[in-house]
Amino acid sequence: MGQTFKLVLFLSMVSVSASFSCANADKPEIKAEKGESTFKNQCSICHGFSGNKQLSGAKKLTESMLPIDEIEALVTHGKRQMPPFKNRLTAQEIKLVSEYAFKFRASK
Ligand code: HEC
Repeated sequence: MGQTFKLVLFLSMVSVSASFSCANADKPEIKAEKGESTFKNQCSICHGFSGNKQLSGAKKLTESMLPIDEIEALVTHGKRQMPPFKNRLTAQEIKLVSEYAFKFRASK
C-alpha cells in the first residue's frame, strides 16, 4: 500500500466518522440519552435515579410543579442548597437534563 493511498484512506475515514456524529446529534433518542447520562452524573447524587431522593433538602422531582423554562433557569443559576450548573454544563446539556428532570412527574 502506497503512502498516499494510506493518507487518503485515513482522511476519508475521519470525514466519514465526523459526518456520522453530526447526523447523530440531532436524533431525539441521542438527545434523550444525553439528558439521562447528564442527570445520572450531575443530579442523581441529590435527586436519586428516580427523582425522589431528597439529599440535602432536594425536592422530589416526581412532585415538582415547575414549568420547563423555570427548571432550566434553576439548573443554570441554582437555588439555596442546589448548586448552579452554568459553569459545569453547556446550555444544550442544561436544556436536555431539564427535559429529563421534567419527565419524572409523569412517572409518579
Ligand atoms: C447538591 C444537591 C443537588 C444537586 C447535585 C442537584 N440538585 Fe436539584 N435541588 C436540590 C435542592 C436542595 C433543591 C431545592 C431548592 C429549593 O427550592 O430550596 C433542588 C431543586 C430542584 C428542582 C426544583 C423542584 C421544585 O419543584 O421546586 C429541580 C427541577 C431540580 N432540582 C433539578 C435538578 C437537576 C436537573 C440537577 C442536575 C443538573 C440537580 N437538580 C442537581 C439539590 C440538588
